[in-house]
Amino acid sequence: MKIMHIDASAKKPEQSNSRMLGKFFLEQLKEQGVNFQIDYLDLTKDIQPHLTPEFVVATYKPENERTPEMKAVLTDSDAMCQRVISADTLVCAMPMYNWTIPSTFKTFIDTIIRTGVTYDLFPDGTTKGKLAGKKVLFITTRGADLRSGAFQHMDAMTPVLKAAFSFLGIDNPQFVDAQPLQFSDPESRLAALARAREELTTIAKQWATTI
Ligand SMILES: Cc1cc2nc3c(=O)[nH]c(=O)nc-3n(C[C@H](O)[C@H](O)[C@H](O)COP(=O)(O)O)c2cc1C
Repeated sequence: MKIMHIDASAKKPEQSNSRMLGKFFLEQLKEQGVNFQIDYLDLTKDIQPHLTPEFVVATYKPENERTPEMKAVLTDSDAMCQRVISADTLVCAMPMYNWTIPSTFKTFIDTIIRTGVTYDLFPDGTTKGKLAGKKVLFITTRGADLRSGAFQHMDAMTPVLKAAFSFLGIDNPQFVDAQPLQFSDPESRLAALARAREELTTIAKQWATTI
């Protein structure tokens, strides 16, 4: 099995909770006897570019009508799409930044949502994602606790991830949201990490029986 493991925390690796929890999950999978290869992507080192006018023109041009220049503009996106397509599962670890996903993960999404490659667009305007069947786990870390209280309505992260990946055919991604990790007392932070580890262990056991 191939796992595409993606990190997006801007912190130094040894200080990042989301990176630590992603690693913890992979260790749990190993403990469960799951054999896998990793395709690792650190989005803080391998930052995908923002969309450009050239990209927008090229991506919507039918493949057989693209000029060599248009094809060149899409080369890196083509390669990233193939990495995602060739993975059986995706494990994406990221912090909440300003109530939503890190901008590096947004440009990753912009890079991999491609007509005819990761989703089909039909003449009647309907679409169908081509990534159905992949398991996807999002491990998110948050400074505040958005499960209840004053910040509950401010989660602009889960809806973005669900929308983008559902469009690609992944209807039931799994989420482990570690919170609160910053805006709280030390006991609540420790409890949040313990809860996240427990949930990740449970998911690793599930994956071991269904992969
Ligand atoms: C620039 C920045 C913006 C942040 N914005 C939010 C936010 O909107 N809501 C929140 O709950 N936490 C926010 N946080 C806190 C992080 O989500 C939290 O510390 C998380 O544990 C960081 O994950 P990491 O250790 O993997 O980097 C922010 C942190 C930074 C550095």
